[in-house]
Amino acid sequence: MTHESQQGSKVAAPIFVQSGKSEFPELDQWQQVGHDEAQMAYDMTLRNELSGGTETVREFEAQWREMTGCKYAVTTINGTSALYSAFFGVNVGPGDEVICPVYTWICTISPVPFLHATPVFAESDPETLMLDPQDVRRRITPKTRAIVAVHLWGCVCDMDALMDIGRETGVAVVEDCSHAHGAMYKGRPVGSIGHAAAWSLQGSKPVSAGEGGVVATNDAEVFDRMAMIGQVNRIAGLDLQTPKYQKHQPLGTGIKFRAHPLGIGIAKVQLAKLAELNKRRGGYIEEVEAGLADIPGLRPVKTHEGVQRGGYYGFPTHYMPEELGRLPCKKLIAALNAAGVRTGSGYDLLHRLPYFAEGFDLFGHDRGPLCGEYKGYKEGDFPVTEKMHANLLFLPVLSDPVPDAARQILERVRRVVENADQIR
Ligand SMILES: Cc1ncc(COP(=O)(O)O)c(C=O)c1O
Repeated sequence: MTHESQQGSKVAAPIFVQSGKSEFPELDQWQQVGHDEAQMAYDMTLRNELSGGTETVREFEAQWREMTGCKYAVTTINGTSALYSAFFGVNVGPGDEVICPVYTWICTISPVPFLHATPVFAESDPETLMLDPQDVRRRITPKTRAIVAVHLWGCVCDMDALMDIGRETGVAVVEDCSHAHGAMYKGRPVGSIGHAAAWSLQGSKPVSAGEGGVVATNDAEVFDRMAMIGQVNRIAGLDLQTPKYQKHQPLGTGIKFRAHPLGIGIAKVQLAKLAELNKRRGGYIEEVEAGLADIPGLRPVKTHEGVQRGGYYGFPTHYMPEELGRLPCKKLIAALNAAGVRTGSGYDLLHRLPYFAEGFDLFGHDRGPLCGEYKGYKEGDFPVTEKMHANLLFLPVLSDPVPDAARQILERVRRVVENADQIR
C-alpha cells in the first residue's frame, strides 16, 4: 500500500496490517474472525447499537466480571486508555513515580507521563521474563504510587511477592493483562489480584474487538475514578458506586474513552471461544516446550509457582548460544525463518527508545516529567534484562493446530539446529 507523503509523492509506508490468518495454514486452521463475529456486527448495526453502553456492551462487561472475578469492569477504546483509566483510578498524578518492567510494550507505561508522573524502569527475572520483585523493592521511593505487573506473553508475574510489596509500602499494583486473557495465578484469574487491571482487545489479542480494552477492579472507589476519566454520559445512574462522585454524573471529567459497541460485540463472540483457544494454543505450546528437551540450544521459559498461563500472546524461548558453538541468536532466527519457521526476537527494551533514554519535552517550554530533573537511561542500566533479552527467540504460536503440528514444528527446528555449524 502507498500513501501521499507531505511532499505529494507516493511512498511506501509502514501500515499496520492485521491478516487474522495463521502464518502456517497447513498446520493451523485458525481464523481470527469469522461468520459469527460478522453476524453480531450486522445485527447490532440494524438495532442501532452503535454508541454508548448498549445492551451488548453491558452483557460483555458482565461476562468479563464473571470470567475475571472482578467486581467492576468497563470497556474502553483500547488497552492504552484502559491503562490510563487504571492509573488514574489508583491516583497516579503529578510528581509520582510508577515502576514498570523495562521489558514490556510501550503502552504499558505510555499513559504515565501524561498524568505528569515519571516511569521508573525495573529489571525482569531472567528465567520467567516477568517483573523482578527484588529489583522493584530497590526502586521504591516516597514518590512511588504504583507498580505495573505485566503478564507478558501469557505468563504471569510473581503476584504474591508484588502484592506483599504493595501491602508493605501502600503502593498500588496495576496488572497489565493485555497478553494473558484467561490466565490464572494460584487459582485466581489475572486482573483480580492487584488494585486495578487492564486488558487490550486490539486486533491480534486472544479476545479481539479490532480495537478495544477493558479496565477492572474490586475497589468501588478505584472504579468510580476509572469511570470518571473515560465514561462520559455512559455513567448516569448506572456505573458509579460510591456517593463521592455522584454529583459529577453523567459527564465525569468529560474525557471520553468509551469503546465502540460493534467492536465489543465482536469481542463478545470471541470471549465465548477463549477457553477453547487457550486449550489449543496452550496444548501446542506445552508439546513444543516438552520436545525442546531433545533439541540443543533452546529451552522453555519458566513459570512462577501456581501459574496457569492464558492468552499465549507470544511463544518466547531462551536461546543458549553455548550449546550451538556461540552462534549469534539473530543468525539462528534468520536460519529458522529461511527454513520456514517464522521466528523473531520480540520487541526491544524501553530504555533504548530515545523517548525514555534521553527524555522529552512533553508539554513544551521545558515542562513535564521526562525533562528538567529527568535523568534518562543508557545501555547497561539493566544488565540482567539486557542479557536475557539478547537471547530470546520466539517460536510460532499456533491457535488451532492440526494434530501433528507440534511435532512438525519441532522437526523443522531440529533440522536447522542440527546444521547450526553451517549457518553463516
Ligand atoms: C503489554 C501491552 N500493554 C498494553 C497494550 C496496549 O493495548 P492497545 O494496543 O489496545 O492500546 C498492548 C498492546 O499490544 C500490550 O501488548
